[in-house]
Amino acid sequence: MSVMVNVNGRLVDKEHAVISVFDHGFLYGEGVYEVLRTYDGVPFLFDRHMRRLRASADRLLLPVPVADAEIDRRVRETMAAAGLGADGREAYIRLLVTRGVGEISYDPASCPDPTIVVITKPHVDAPATAYTDGVTVSLVSVLRNHPGSVNPIIKSNNLLNNALGQQEALRKGAFEAVMRNYRGEIAECAQSNIFIVKDGVALTPPVDAGLLVGITREFLFEVAREVGVPMREQVIRDVDLFGADECFLTSTTREVVPIVRVDEHVIGSGKPGPITLQLLRAFQAHARAQAAVETTNTVRR
Ligand code: PDD
Repeated sequence: MSVMVNVNGRLVDKEHAVISVFDHGFLYGEGVYEVLRTYDGVPFLFDRHMRRLRASADRLLLPVPVADAEIDRRVRETMAAAGLGADGREAYIRLLVTRGVGEISYDPASCPDPTIVVITKPHVDAPATAYTDGVTVSLVSVLRNHPGSVNPIIKSNNLLNNALGQQEALRKGAFEAVMRNYRGEIAECAQSNIFIVKDGVALTPPVDAGLLVGITREFLFEVAREVGVPMREQVIRDVDLFGADECFLTSTTREVVPIVRVDEHVIGSGKPGPITLQLLRAFQAHARAQAAVETTNTVRR
């Protein structure tokens, strides 16, 4: 089966996973989402993803009238139906909540019931060469949304800003798009957070730069503390990026990916840096250890 979907509590296969064209998620991009993956079959940091989902929804005054335990149950049922989560078959999980079906009007009063969707499919790692050789990213002309507009802190289904940035990078053959904010500072990538390493310190733009507070980013701060790598938030500009000793990106699906070029600029030695690789290894070890703890949490939930 490999891809299965739960639409408002109903388990369906890919062909039957449909939403009304009158859903405000479709009409206006009004909705929020999360992307999780499993380690050893366990959805990683489920509680943190649920907290961020609810925080995103609150910023849209979008109710999520389903308890975490019920969402957890739907995720597991959908994974199981897809044949995922066992025998080393790790899952990609996309959780979406939209305003729901209503009139063609911005008035949310016409949408009594939010739409809740769980998509599960096999998790696919980034290509092995991304980790061994590093990737090229492109600093694109599309600016990340102004926080006073659609705030990047919201993990919103309204992804046109990200899509336009990423499409510019793809046209240049790059793996990811690095996006600046309206002040011209580096904010984040189209689908991930960005870090540089300078003089042994890992640096990443502050939340105030206008970015999604990545759960991988947050977990990596904890891992860095454990393994003794200094890490802090700092404003990063183009010159800092081009002059970095090392650079990497983080996201749920990609973990920690070394960046060795930004367009024509070679970063550091042009190879994945030692601190990046140390953080990648430590992240993977901690993620699996955390998965073992979360198995116990699930029993309690
Ligand atoms: N992307 N910034 C943006 C704009 C993102 O879309 C993502 C995640 C991140 C990293 O967040 P996290 O570490 O919580 O995955 C940062 C997901 C994976 C996606 O949209 O597929």
